[in-house]
Amino acid sequence: MTVPRQDIDSAHPSWHGAQMDFSQSMSYGDYLDLDHLLSAQHPLSTEHNEMLFIIQHQTSELWMKLMLHELLAARGCIQRDQVEPALKMLARVSRIMEQLLQSWAVLSTLTPSEYSQFRHYLGSSSGFQSHQYRQIEFVLGNKNASLVAPHVHHPERRKAVEDALNAPSLYDEVLMLLARRGFQISPQRIARDWTQPTQYDESVEAAWLRVYADPNACWDLYALAEKLVDVEDAFRQWRFRHLTTVERIIGFKRGTGGTAGVSYLRKMLEVVLFPELWRMRTAL
Ligand code: HEM
Repeated sequence: MTVPRQDIDSAHPSWHGAQMDFSQSMSYGDYLDLDHLLSAQHPLSTEHNEMLFIIQHQTSELWMKLMLHELLAARGCIQRDQVEPALKMLARVSRIMEQLLQSWAVLSTLTPSEYSQFRHYLGSSSGFQSHQYRQIEFVLGNKNASLVAPHVHHPERRKAVEDALNAPSLYDEVLMLLARRGFQISPQRIARDWTQPTQYDESVEAAWLRVYADPNACWDLYALAEKLVDVEDAFRQWRFRHLTTVERIIGFKRGTGGTAGVSYLRKMLEVVLFPELWRMRTAL
């Protein structure tokens, strides 16, 4: 159906009162810089399915950008003893993770035959080189200095990844908060080399046991612990869905990033971000 000219003419704004003329004011597309965003998809092949692959990765990177924004802000709040706003931010992080989890369903429509038609165009690029993903892992305490290497050729990304490596993780900040609140945390746990991954510490488990034994005594810490468990729970599921989707699409081929592929991703399922919060559940 053709829309009558007078319905789209700004002189006759008859479409439910909506503004129609943006020659003098900012529109939706201007605010969101959509020309930029929607022209950032550059398939290298002529294969129909490459667009899905690109958009799946780009949207994941956008959600990761928001996740990092929230995680860094939550860490700042904890540093300043502001637990309540951090709870809200961590709730959002879990929802973003759940959103990413759901998105695997779209990618699982890509069959091995479809992927193999453009896989060789990817060269050696792989999600393994995602600088935002690496920052998220580091902010969550899964530190590994050797994983800065894929970013050294790009000064800005390198700095962002190194900053995340060198700073205390979100969980480190939470444990410093516990110490400030009078829990006995071993001094070597809260004054350690921040570039090292989180390791189980008995004094931390004992502190969480006290929090969970009497939640009413420090409800905010109890709620914070549960938010951290929510984040790790969702992250574990994301890792698992990635692994399953990858196995479904490439079987046991090597990854474009050079690892053994599925067996590397399976190994990553063993990562535990907040060990004491899981271990204390047995003792409770
Ligand atoms: C056809 C789809 C996909 C395949 C076949 C695939 C395959 C792989 C493989 C084999 C690895 C191990 C590293 C390597 O050797 O390349 C990997 C790592 C990774 N992929 Fe994917 N992937 C796919 C989609 C995605 C998507 C949509 C994302 C979202 C951003 C993603 C993010 C990552 C990340 C962050 C890593 C690093 C994981 C870690 O180091 O723990 N992948 N991928």
